[in-house]
Amino acid sequence: MTGKEEKLIGLMREQIDVEKRNLEALAQAENEAKETAVRLALMNMRLDTWKHQKFLEGMIEMMTTTPCDEWSAKVGRYAGRVKLERDLEEFMNDENDMIKLANEALGLVNDPLAAFLLEKLKEEEERRFGELEELVTLIKQSPLQSKKGKKGTDVVCDTD
Ligand SMILES: [Fe+2]
Repeated sequence: MTGKEEKLIGLMREQIDVEKRNLEALAQAENEAKETAVRLALMNMRLDTWKHQKFLEGMIEMMTTTPCDEWSAKVGRYAGRVKLERDLEEFMNDENDMIKLANEALGLVNDPLAAFLLEKLKEEEERRFGELEELVTLIKQSPLQSKKGKKGTDVVCDTD
């Protein structure tokens, strides 16, 4: 691992600590919130924060694990990608339904705060739809192991 990578991982770990601290504070504020709208807004932030923590942890995992001579790991990853493609279509159909329903509901809602929250929800569904496509394209392009061999079929061992 290069010094730059080590520094990056150090930064990510630092951020994880902040995310964790924030997560606890948000959970507490959420529990104490008297109003539903406030509780929902805090919950939204809490879930994002939790997601950031998990993303950072996953990225560190990606950077630090190198499967070595693991044919089964490679096969497993390949199978995972095939499944991902199948799942994607279903996820996108669901997202489409959610967007349609949120749109319909938006036309009926009068309360400005509820409208705001619903609008946010709809925006998120729409963004996710685009992200799903982008993510799968990226995953398809990345090699099956984290280190590149000379040929695409090489399984590279970590010799560090
Ligand atoms: Fe965050």
